[in-house]
Amino acid sequence: MPLVQSATVDPKQFRKACGKFVTGVTIVTTRGADGAPHGMTANSFTSVSLDPPLVLFCAYRKIRLLEHFLQGGYFGVNILSEHQQELSNRFAKAGINRFAGVEWYEGKTGVPLLPGVLATLECRLDQTSEAGDHQILIGEAQYLGFREGTPLAYFGGGYSEVIPADARSRLHRDVFIEFL
Ligand SMILES: Cc1cc2nc3c(=O)[nH]c(=O)nc-3n(C[C@H](O)[C@H](O)[C@H](O)COP(=O)(O)O)c2cc1C
Repeated sequence: MPLVQSATVDPKQFRKACGKFVTGVTIVTTRGADGAPHGMTANSFTSVSLDPPLVLFCAYRKIRLLEHFLQGGYFGVNILSEHQQELSNRFAKAGINRFAGVEWYEGKTGVPLLPGVLATLECRLDQTSEAGDHQILIGEAQYLGFREGTPLAYFGGGYSEVIPADARSRLHRDVFIEFL
């Protein structure tokens, strides 16, 4: 298929082009001024700097949760595993209490963390910047944890799977050996 090129940037095409970049899926969380846990699904998470250890995510400026993230002073990042698609959908849904019936625990900084995720980072909100219709939130990691496992991936506007390249070649090798 030929490469689709466009001189003017149409929002739909922009989405499609950016969607070619595969990401993981996170649930970013914070404690509101009300003390309640808040969180939303975000795939705009990325690491920024090693020294100091900075990360960022981008939040649409109209989301109701943004206030809580800006006031909270700390945010949590929960990197989802391949089995947590439902959780991802839940934390993107409007008009529900997202934490109702969901297991969570309090991190050292007070941010809500989710058990069973691949990694958690607790970050102190360091700086924010307005960028178009989104707000960039940069945080310095204070505490973290991680485990072995396979991540939930997002690609082309949908969930995807990650197969490590060496596992794929091992898989092919195994199949080949089976047929010998
Ligand atoms: C896989 C996935 C990734 C998302 N990533 C982001 C993101 O990086 N930033 C963002 O603002 N919204 C993102 N969203 C949408 C938000 O989760 C959703 O709009 C938000 O939770 C709505 O919050 P509100 O009800 O407080 O307005 C994503 C949704 C999904 C399903």
